[in-house]
Amino acid sequence: THSRSSTASRQQPHPPLVFAFDIDGVLLRGETVLPAAKRALARLEGANPTGLKIPYILITNGGGISEEDRCRKLSKQLGFDIKPTQYVQSHTVLKSVVHKYAEKPIMVFGGKFDEVRKVAEGYGFEKVYTTLDVMAWNPNVWPFHELTAEERASTKPVDFSRTPISAAFVFHDPRNWALDVQILCDLVQSGGIIGAPYLPVSEQNKVDLVFCNPDLLWRAAFDRPRLGQGAFREAFQAVYHALTGKRYPYVQYGKPSEVTYKFAEKVLVDRLEELSGRRPAVSPEVYMVGDNPESDIAGANAAKWSSVLVRTGVFDPAQGPPAHTPTHIAEDVEEAVEWAIRREM
Ligand code: G3P
Ligand code: MG
Repeated sequence: THSRSSTASRQQPHPPLVFAFDIDGVLLRGETVLPAAKRALARLEGANPTGLKIPYILITNGGGISEEDRCRKLSKQLGFDIKPTQYVQSHTVLKSVVHKYAEKPIMVFGGKFDEVRKVAEGYGFEKVYTTLDVMAWNPNVWPFHELTAEERASTKPVDFSRTPISAAFVFHDPRNWALDVQILCDLVQSGGIIGAPYLPVSEQNKVDLVFCNPDLLWRAAFDRPRLGQGAFREAFQAVYHALTGKRYPYVQYGKPSEVTYKFAEKVLVDRLEELSGRRPAVSPEVYMVGDNPESDIAGANAAKWSSVLVRTGVFDPAQGPPAHTPTHIAEDVEEAVEWAIRREM
C-alpha cells in the first residue's frame, strides 16, 4: 500500500499532501459549480481525518481577466476563499517574461474588449494593443466586421503604420477568429507593421508568437466538449501554411507545458510557506485532479505528480482509454479527493 503509516523510514519528514485542481470540467461546467466540487473542497478545508486544512491550488488553461478578479469570482462560486496565491491561469506565467518586452509594442489576442489589455498592463507590459484598436485605425483591415459601440469604446487611437509590433500574445480565446487570424497573418508576414509589404517567407520570423493555452477541446456547459485556444492556433497555422507553405514558429504556455507546471510547483511551495510560516522541509506530495488527459494528466505525469482523471469533463470513457494514463480514474472530484486522502492518510 502507499499509506503513510507503512512508509519505511520514520526519520524522513512526510511530504505534505497537496492538491492541484483543474477548473473547467472538474469544479465548474461553464458558470455552474459541480456539486461534487463543494464537497471535495470542504474535505480539504478541514472536514477530513486530520481535521486540518489540506493545501490546494487551482491550475487552469482559462484566463482573460486578472488573477484577482477571477479569484473573487471563484470564491463566490465555490463558497471558499480562493486567493491569488492559490491560483495559476493560462497567462499567469507571462509575468516571468514581461522584462523582455516591457517598452516594446505588443499585440494581445483573446478575451472581451480590452480586458486582456488591462491584464497585460497589470503584468507590466507598457505598450499593449488589441485587434479592435487595428479596426478603429483602419476598418479596411477586415471588411467583414464593423466595430460595435462597446468595442469602439474599448479601443485606443494608434497609427499602426508607424507602430512595429514586436510580439503577439494570445492570452485567451479570441472572440472573432476571422479578424484575429487576418491580423495575425498581417503581423507575421509584414514583420510587425500592419499594411507594410510582406517580407520574403524565409524572413517571416520577426514577430514573436506566444500562445497561452494549447487546449484543442475543453468542457463548458454544453453536452460535448468545445473548441479551445489550441483550435484557434491550428486555424491560424492552417491559413498561414496555405499562404506560405510553412507553419509559423511559436512558444506554447499552459498545461501540459513544463514551464507552466514548474511555475505551479513554485506557487504550491510558496502557498505551503504562506500557510505554515516556513519553507517545507521536503517537496510536497502533489495530486493533480483534471478532466483533460492531454493537458492535466500529461502535465502532472511529466511533473512526477500523482494524477487523477475525472469523468465529468473532456475525457469520455466511451471513446476508449485516455491518451495519457493517470494514476487513478475517478467519477468526479469528490471521489478523487477521497481516494487520495485514503491513499495518503
Ligand atoms: O479556456 C479554458 C479551457 O481551455 C480549459 O480550462 O480549467 O479545464 O484548464 P481548464
Ligand atoms: Mg479542464
